[in-house]
Amino acid sequence: MIYGEKTLDRPIRIGMVGGGRGGQIGYIHRIASARDFNFQLVAGAFDVNPERGKDFGLNLHVKEDRLYKDYKEMFEKEKTREDGIEAVIIATPNFLHYEIAKAALENNLHVVCEKPMTFTVAEAEDLKQLSEKHKKIVCTTFGYSGYQMIEQARQMVKNGDLGPIRIINMVYAHGYHNVAVEKHNASTKWRVDPKMAGPSYVLGDVGIHAIYLSRIICPDLKIKKLMCSRQSFVKSRAPLEDNAMTIQEYNNGAIGYLWSSCVNSGSMYGLKIRVVGEKASLEWNEEHPYALSYEVQGQPKQTMIKGADYLYPSAKEDDRGATDVVEGLFESWSNLYARFAQAMYAIDHGKEYNKWYPDVNDGLEAVRWIENCVKSADNGATWVDYK
Ligand code: NAI
Repeated sequence: MIYGEKTLDRPIRIGMVGGGRGGQIGYIHRIASARDFNFQLVAGAFDVNPERGKDFGLNLHVKEDRLYKDYKEMFEKEKTREDGIEAVIIATPNFLHYEIAKAALENNLHVVCEKPMTFTVAEAEDLKQLSEKHKKIVCTTFGYSGYQMIEQARQMVKNGDLGPIRIINMVYAHGYHNVAVEKHNASTKWRVDPKMAGPSYVLGDVGIHAIYLSRIICPDLKIKKLMCSRQSFVKSRAPLEDNAMTIQEYNNGAIGYLWSSCVNSGSMYGLKIRVVGEKASLEWNEEHPYALSYEVQGQPKQTMIKGADYLYPSAKEDDRGATDVVEGLFESWSNLYARFAQAMYAIDHGKEYNKWYPDVNDGLEAVRWIENCVKSADNGATWVDYK
């Protein structure tokens, strides 16, 4: 159970790039990082428009002399201060992730980077190397993975409650971009431009969230080969896809299916994962994140609820209130940010941190998955050996 007492000597000083006024994801980063006194936001280059970014920063109580025109100025000036930033959040469109994360690591800063971490596997491997060289960590915000019931699912698979895993059925398919909303929506416009979004749209925007959940729940399964078909139902989005279907085979003979889409008209919440074993199945749905369905063949379906006594102990560590207190995405992100802080603190103090969190390897593996999907799709939806 988390009561909000401090877990570090003092909050880690953090700066932010992007996530400015009107941006979609900046607010949840700020709130989740500030929870439990783990981070203190002290500097920023919040916006592509520096004036708007500075005005925004003042409204966040960031001191005027720590509001910068861009990330380069922020890293340069902050490193001359005794109380300079120790970490940075990158919440910009995709094309900036690699260059900002690289510069941050070279300036000895820990990084919390939005997904997809980079455009290419080669860039992601470079960040991994820099992270090792500078002994600074890179965290990636697969924000749905901090829910307690994801940990419960992981423990159930680990303990054999489902038997050997056979099938993983995943969906992240929402309907918000069923027509060309990018014509009047800045946050969607860059997502359909390969120069700013990278080699994919929905695979990298939503699909990789489901892929990360499958990695966390079934860490022993490794993809051997995959096949992907992608489409642009809104024609102007081509070559980027607004819909894709991936089939992937794993090392143990299991099979995975993932539908990634932003044109699933009528769907408001799109993320679901079902893990099917020889004896039983688990299903988790973003719409009811505090619940996990457990279906044993031949028995009535059970719905497990966060906080309950019957859960594995590690699935109860991040509860933030009594069993009947409803928690949501902000709590899931806060749980991850608490782990990011403890992992940063541990490496800076020569200590071990053993709990899982989405790290540089997870960022890298997500980019590898996108690269393989795009290769298969652009080769006529053929099977490709996973590299
Ligand atoms: P957005 O377009 O809504 O906001 C982007 C923000 O970055 C804006 O404030 C913009 O002014 C700022 N920006 C752009 N260029 C900049 C620069 N050179 N320097 C400083 N600031 C700059 O984008 P959104 O939807 O917030 O996405 C941002 C990132 O977050 C993307 O990589 C996206 O994939 C990721 N994302 C992740 C989610 C998750 O669940 N982890 C959910 C939504 C987005």
